[in-house]
Amino acid sequence: MIRSDTEGRVARIRFDRLDKKNAITAEMYAQLGAALAAADGDSQVRAVLLHGSAECFTSGNDVTDFLNIQRRPGASPARALFDALPNMKKPVVAAVGGPAVGIGSTMLLHCDLVFATPSARFQLPFVPLGIVPEFGSTFLLPLLAGYQRAAKLLLLGQPFTAQEALEAGIVTEVVPGEKLLEHAFQVCSALAALPPESIRLTKRLMRARYTETLAATIDEETRIFTERLSSPEAKEAMSAFLEKRKPDFSRFG
Ligand code: COA
Repeated sequence: MIRSDTEGRVARIRFDRLDKKNAITAEMYAQLGAALAAADGDSQVRAVLLHGSAECFTSGNDVTDFLNIQRRPGASPARALFDALPNMKKPVVAAVGGPAVGIGSTMLLHCDLVFATPSARFQLPFVPLGIVPEFGSTFLLPLLAGYQRAAKLLLLGQPFTAQEALEAGIVTEVVPGEKLLEHAFQVCSALAALPPESIRLTKRLMRARYTETLAATIDEETRIFTERLSSPEAKEAMSAFLEKRKPDFSRFG
């Protein structure tokens, strides 16, 4: 469900679970983290392209897993991704078509460049799901988008367009659907042709100032997120999604 291959000096990593809108299971997080780490450690690879299909990037964490997997306090099945993506030494480019929900949006905050089609749809539905945002988004999104724009996206949790994602600093450029992968691959190839040590040092310098704060935020979010998963609010929200009905939060104080 995570596929990876290499073309020239570009590693391509792709979500491939379209029947469930590329929802990410615990097993997929492990595969994704391993594929990223392998690309970063492969001396032949100089850039990484992360993508889904033309119709869907990923609908985020598998909601059934949220309900069924018992987590140890503070632990997350996404840990392999949390550890790999923010620490990539090589540039990571994401190509987004269709939905990029939950961690499908928050992982973009760690990519170096993000290309999206006009029909891409982003959403950070953590509050509507009765949980809290993850993967450092409570720190990175206010930094990128400004506090109030981040608050709109994180508190209301409504879907937003590629244009809004561009204005919020989540997307680098909106490109026509039929050109998405080709364009993203060309940019990866251009990055791969540049001096690799200069790229590594520039990435490190841009991120050095916030590396520790980001890691601490991810840990704190993960702890609260895990607690919230067993809350009555989250149970109501997630059961409602799987039962295809509107959640009812009126009884909560
Ligand atoms: N986890 C588990 N299953 C998911 C899923 C997810 N995150 N996203 C979609 N699916 C499943 C649906 O339950 C449905 O399964 P079924 O065919 O067995 O009924 C199938 O994938 C197709 O999804 P559907 O909702 O019918 O597609 P859509 O095109 O109408 O909507 C989305 C696509 C992504 C907008 C919508 O599926 C969605 O909002 N998903 C949930 C996203 C979410 O809350 N993620 C967690 C973030 S923290």
